[in-house]
Amino acid sequence: MLKLAFRPYAGDDREEKIESDHIERALLAALPGQIAIVSTFPSDATHVFGRPPKNWARPATLSYPAASHLHLDYWNWDGFLSNARRTTQVHDLAGASKRVAEIHATGHDAFVKATMPKFHTSVVPRGTTLSRHLDALVYSFIDRGPCLIVQERVEMKHEYRIFVVNGEPVTGAGTVFSHTPDDNQAPFNPLVSTNPSDDNCTSDEALVGRYLDFARQVIPLMPTQSFSLDVAMINGEIGIVELNPLMLGQIGLFACDPTLLTSAVLRGCGLAS
Ligand SMILES: Nc1ncnc2c1ncn2[C@@H]1O[C@H](COP(=O)(O)OP(=O)(O)OP(=O)(O)O)[C@@H](O)[C@H]1O
Ligand SMILES: [Mg+2]
Repeated sequence: MLKLAFRPYAGDDREEKIESDHIERALLAALPGQIAIVSTFPSDATHVFGRPPKNWARPATLSYPAASHLHLDYWNWDGFLSNARRTTQVHDLAGASKRVAEIHATGHDAFVKATMPKFHTSVVPRGTTLSRHLDALVYSFIDRGPCLIVQERVEMKHEYRIFVVNGEPVTGAGTVFSHTPDDNQAPFNPLVSTNPSDDNCTSDEALVGRYLDFARQVIPLMPTQSFSLDVAMINGEIGIVELNPLMLGQIGLFACDPTLLTSAVLRGCGLAS
C-alpha cells in the first residue's frame, strides 16, 4: 500500500520556508487526501518529500527517493567532463595537493570540492597549499581515498538551475540566493544575476533560451535522466557548473515553478498521470 509523507521545513530561513510552503501546497493540490504532513517520516513510508532529519534511517519500504536518487557522482560522467569548460579531477588528499600545485603552476587559482554532499568547497589561491588551506578539515579527508574534486578556478556568471525529469527540462530559474518561487514569472524564469548573491537581476530570455538548447544537448549524454542541472557562462561559454540529485523538497528552487516541478516528479514516480 502507498504511504506518502511530506515533512515541511521547520527552520528560520526565509527562502527555505517559502519553498517548502510552495511544495506542500503543490503536493496537496496534486494528490488531495493522500499525503500526510509530518514532522517525522513514517517507518513504513513508500514516498517521502522534504528534507529528512539528520541520521535518518531510510525505510526499506521506500521507493521515492530511490537510493540512486540520493547521490550523483557526476564528476565521473563524460557528459559533465566534456561540458564543464574546465579540467576536473578527483583525487585522494595527497593527489589533490599535488594537482592544486600543478594548477597553481599554470597561473590559476584552484577550486576544490569534496565528493561528500554539502561538505566543503573552497578556492585555494596561488601562494597557499591545500593542506594549509584546509587546516583542521584535512583530517576529514585522510584515508578516504578519492574524495576531493579539483578544478581550476574559472569565471562563472549568470548561473541557472534547470530541473530535468525523465530527460525533459521542466522548469528553471537563475541561481539567485534571494529568489523563491514567489519570484517566478515563467516556467523558465528569465531573471538572471551576475553572481548568486547579487539581487540585481536582468531579464534575459535569449540567454535562458541558449541555456535550454544547451541542456537539451547534454541531457542525453548523462547516465541518469532526472536531476537538477546547474549551468553558467564559464569563461565566456555555456557550461555545466554541477548536477544535483532531484529530491523534491530537498533542493533549492530559486524562482522555479513549484507546481510544474511537483507534477513532473509525481508523474516520474507513477503517482500522477
Ligand atoms: N571551478 C570553479 N571555479 C570558480 N567557481 C566555481 C567553480 N566551480 C563552482 N564554482 C562556484 O562555486 C559554487 C559552488 O560550487 P558547486 O555548485 O559545485 O558546489 P556546492 O553546490 O557547494 O556543492 P554540493 O554539491 O555539495 O551542494 C558554484 O555555484 C559556483 O558559483
Ligand atoms: Mg551548487
